[in-house]
Amino acid sequence: MSADDKKKAAAAAALDYVEAGLVIGVGTGSTANHFIDLLAKIKSRLDGAVASSKSTEVRLKQAGIPVLDLNGVGTLPLYVDGADEATRHRHLIKGGGGALTREKIVAAASEKFVCIADDSKLVGRLGAFPLPIEVIPMARSYVARRLVSLGGQPKLRDGFTTDNGNIILDVQNLDILNPVELEGELDHIAGVVANGLFARRPADVLLLGTDSGVTKL
Ligand code: A5P
Repeated sequence: MSADDKKKAAAAAALDYVEAGLVIGVGTGSTANHFIDLLAKIKSRLDGAVASSKSTEVRLKQAGIPVLDLNGVGTLPLYVDGADEATRHRHLIKGGGGALTREKIVAAASEKFVCIADDSKLVGRLGAFPLPIEVIPMARSYVARRLVSLGGQPKLRDGFTTDNGNIILDVQNLDILNPVELEGELDHIAGVVANGLFARRPADVLLLGTDSGVTKL
């Protein structure tokens, strides 16, 4: 089975969590896009969705799903999104698509976070995937120096501006032994808007598409 078929299978399994009359949070990326395509088929069940990025907002609207402002809907019962890496503890690296800040906000505002991915995303330890960090542009050099002092190798994501008008530093070589601690430490660097570690608010359910079906962790 291809990685894309596994993503589709995980997205389909997440539909089981969509109950009638809900407003749900929807993530960003190719796996989340499969989820939106499937949601389109049951859109009459939904009251609407909160998008984690401008691109997801466009796709939801194209699918005929009403897009609502998070400020107007309060706590969301469900958030469905992909990941770049995931552990068995459901700690994640996200932000490969650059939407990490809004994804983190929607995840924080949701009661249940269902993460959908193909099984290549499951790792023993986070960090082979460069950790995305959203940074206020004027703080780029300062934050980069701080990341180097932590042992990381930051690289500016060329030609990329986030939906919030900021830059992304992709950081290699960080020693992510304790993702909860590192997430907090990175957030405390002045100029960092958000980092791609989702450990303090991990996924509640991880649905992994595999050759033999969808595994739930
Ligand atoms: C978007 O910013 C990311 O957090 C995505 O959730 C992540 O990159 C997963 O993307 P795919 O579903 O395309 O693998």
